[in-house]
Amino acid sequence: KSYNVAIMGATGAVGQQMKEQLEKRNFPVKNIVFLASSRSAGQEITFKGKTYTVQEAVPESFENVDIALFSAGGSISEKFAPEAVKRGAVVIDNTSAFRMDKEVPLVVPEVNKEDIRLHKGIIANPNCSTIQMVCALQPLKEQYGLSKIVVSTYQAVSGAGVNAINELKSQSADFDNAQNAEASVLPVKSADRHYPIAFNAIPQIDQFTDNGYTYEEMKMINETKKIMHDDTLSVAATCVRLPVVTGHSESVYVELEGVPTVAEVKQSIANAPGVELMDDPSNQVYPMPLMAAGKDEVFVGRIRQDLDNPQGFHLWVVSDNLVKGAALNSVQIAEALVEEQIV
Ligand code: A2P
Repeated sequence: KSYNVAIMGATGAVGQQMKEQLEKRNFPVKNIVFLASSRSAGQEITFKGKTYTVQEAVPESFENVDIALFSAGGSISEKFAPEAVKRGAVVIDNTSAFRMDKEVPLVVPEVNKEDIRLHKGIIANPNCSTIQMVCALQPLKEQYGLSKIVVSTYQAVSGAGVNAINELKSQSADFDNAQNAEASVLPVKSADRHYPIAFNAIPQIDQFTDNGYTYEEMKMINETKKIMHDDTLSVAATCVRLPVVTGHSESVYVELEGVPTVAEVKQSIANAPGVELMDDPSNQVYPMPLMAAGKDEVFVGRIRQDLDNPQGFHLWVVSDNLVKGAALNSVQIAEALVEEQIV
């Protein structure tokens, strides 16, 4: 059996990656439609050797679509996802629009694949930083129990879209002018003030909420609890944007309920699906975003036991934010729907 697929936001950083994952993983596609705004309607995209024309998204675009992969921004999802569902499609949404909706499963297949069965038309793909963190921590949760997470992120600009990548590239050409470089995208397109990202570190991703945390930080906090089905889990996050094009890094401190050795923690991570242990300090082996870009896995290294709390462990977690953090996870959800015959 094969399926009619739509990609909403096909010209974007994530949308392009979605197309590549469908090709690479040989997803059973019958027909595919590439949707974007009127700005890029008419552009051509090649899928498995055949050329397709990008179309402006309208509600009727979803007629006969079985699976719609959305990554065109939250407001677009709010507007078009219900239209797609009304026409019989299952929407896999990469934006934050529905993630915390009680009716909408929030899924990382390595962690809570079975939640897809609860869908009522929409399945949400979590935030990129959340996905790679829960992949790395799920094996520890299963084997030793997890009580607390404190995470700081080092996030790539591609998470903020094609415009952010272009801005980093153009600013990077001129170090002498770094402080006065023109900036109009980061930290947030809609913000009052913008700062250069080249040669910089910006401790703001998305807008601030009333409690002093940013929305990105609150996404990591709330989504982790929802995916792991544990409201009592203690989670704190600080999210920082760096001048890296692709690949998010995270310094993660966890407190476990058991007291494993470092070797046992390493073994548990090495055995986990979708995760690769890359931890050999004596040979300077540890994950870095430049090397993780384009790869499917979540890489984990620098595993250390806390020096004061034997239940505390420090990990360094790196993954391609556009691949496992977005497009791959969405396509894995689509594969799970096919596998479970619920599409
Ligand atoms: P377009 O190329 O027409 O602007 P990114 O996150 O990399 O910036 O990509 C955002 C994606 O969402 C792009 O594919 C973009 O298409 C699409 N998009 C933005 N606004 C709309 C809209 N109003 N309707 C449909 N697609 C949109």
